Amino acid sequence: MRTHMCGEPRPADIGTTVTVCGWVARRREHGEHLAFVDLRDHTGLLQCVVDGSVDVRSEYVLAVTGVVSQRPEGTVNDRLGTGQVELTDCEVEILSAAEPPPFPLDERAAEVDETIRLRHRYLDLRRAEMQSNLRSRARISSAIRSAMDAQGFVEVETPMLIASTPEGARDFVVPSRLHPGEFYALPQSPQLFKQLCMVGGVDRYYQIARCMRDEDLRADRQFEFSQLDLEMSFASQSDVLEAVSRAVGAAVEAVTGEGVGEIPHMTWHDAMNRFGSDKPDVRFGMELEDLSEVFAETGFNAFKADAVKGICHKGASEATSRNRLDDLTEKAKRWGAKGLVWMRAEEGPDGEVTLNSPVAKFLSPEELAGVIETLGVEVGDVCYLVADRWHRVCHVLGLLRLELGRPPVHEGGLRFLWVLDFPLFEDVDEATGRPVPAHHPFTMPHPEDTDMLSGGPTELLGVRSQAYDLVLNGWELGSGSVRIHRPELQQQIFDLLGISEAEAEAKFGFLLEAFRYGAPPHAGFAFGLDRLVALLVGEDNIREVIAYPKTQSGGDPLTSAPSPVDAEHLAELGLRLLPRGT
Ligand code: AMO
Ligand code: AMP
Repeated sequence: MRTHMCGEPRPADIGTTVTVCGWVARRREHGEHLAFVDLRDHTGLLQCVVDGSVDVRSEYVLAVTGVVSQRPEGTVNDRLGTGQVELTDCEVEILSAAEPPPFPLDERAAEVDETIRLRHRYLDLRRAEMQSNLRSRARISSAIRSAMDAQGFVEVETPMLIASTPEGARDFVVPSRLHPGEFYALPQSPQLFKQLCMVGGVDRYYQIARCMRDEDLRADRQFEFSQLDLEMSFASQSDVLEAVSRAVGAAVEAVTGEGVGEIPHMTWHDAMNRFGSDKPDVRFGMELEDLSEVFAETGFNAFKADAVKGICHKGASEATSRNRLDDLTEKAKRWGAKGLVWMRAEEGPDGEVTLNSPVAKFLSPEELAGVIETLGVEVGDVCYLVADRWHRVCHVLGLLRLELGRPPVHEGGLRFLWVLDFPLFEDVDEATGRPVPAHHPFTMPHPEDTDMLSGGPTELLGVRSQAYDLVLNGWELGSGSVRIHRPELQQQIFDLLGISEAEAEAKFGFLLEAFRYGAPPHAGFAFGLDRLVALLVGEDNIREVIAYPKTQSGGDPLTSAPSPVDAEHLAELGLRLLPRGT
């Protein structure tokens, strides 16, 4: 139907007759007899000069045949690829009429309520930005597939109707018609199946896997998302890091044209200690500094704690009002701190740095000097100090650091980071004394720490695992681990987690059984494709890189999902609804 795409004609084509097809982006009247129609397809806009009597309006679908002509002087538009030319002597065929769109299909759509955009997602998708995001996503997937294929990985599809997978979120469940009263779970990830693939001799598995998790939605979380999921036999942690780095490198190159280089490593402990996060955003400094030594002998009660740390916000004093400081103190308390000490760095009588703070009177001159020295404080800075258990101090200052210094999503380049040596357990449940796994219960403990598995809570919390995360600009891109492949060790971990033999048998019996038939040592990883695409195209919400996402409240305004099913259908599934609110 067409000879050219709308975005193609250039001065070199002047004089040729072309046919383009697309949507009317804009119509402007030009005198009494002529109209300018900007025709749009995914490659761009082309200005067509048509007879004023032609009845076309916004979003009509046209085929326009005309002659590529030089635009008259003074009407060249440098912001358009086709801005030097226009189509004249046009013959217009209306392929479809259109009602006026409910919102403007250009940059102004960013201001439009999300529900309206999603209600008419097919219109939203016509916008240049969405077209570009979808196409980048496709290029990224394709580059990842090529990189995986080249490394000898085999794409295997795993089922969507399964028994529950333990990834820590809620399952979406699907009632079974043939087995009334019984349910499938939708996969939170293909975790167990990929491990079974290793027992099955697949050796290197991958899949761009759809995963489903019933959890609260956020900017970086949807119910449904995609992972590059992989698993390798006879492979160590470093083999996995290498394979993932190549896939990620190929993805980045597909969008930016540049490689990633060697991705730096950091231990979990360093990440927490220096950045107060297990997913540090290393695009900016403002690192956490340790002040425990400085306050070792302090008389200030609030600082008599396991750890005292501080951060320094350079040159921020003038821009930081007293209200803002109160607001930050409230935030710190919400994040779990007992309080927040702030200090403004001012110029003393002899030009030296002095610290102005409501608590300065409780601190010795040596302590104040220690803060200035350790944090490298200069006049005009603001420092923030927190005292508590190490973990809490890191957590609170890590959030404060992000609040004060984090650059917008598209600034500061792409800073990948491997975070290694995660603890095996995240916490010990105070009520039960049971540890809570930091990753999932199939993660191999660090070989040097296995003796500590029989210790008390303190030892348990000190056990490192062979689990690793990939972080990009402060987002957790992906996680993986070396797996336990020996049934005895797996049983020991289940015992520790309080998963009884009966429960383990019921939930993962098939995996444990498989391991009894000769399991190769194996390790794997999964990273969020939606997150990677979002960061690569500079979006701060993964919704913008998903064709048909859900709203914040989990609905799809386009198809009205979720929606009730009729009584007959429920009866067939052996289900009856409880009255609302019970
Ligand atoms: P994990 O649970 O860490 O690991 O998930 C891996 C990555 O998937 C992405 N992700 C999400 N993206 C969008 N919306 C969500 N709701 C969502 N949840 C997770 C994140 C995350 O880092 N089976 C293990 C991997 C393994 O051990 O091999 C797993 O799924 O980017
Ligand atoms: P208080 O001794 O509770 O009156 O607190 C005195 C000041 O120290 C207040 O500004 C508190 O916000 C702050 N503060 C109290 N506890 C801590 C703590 N653990 N870490 C940092 N600041 C604290």
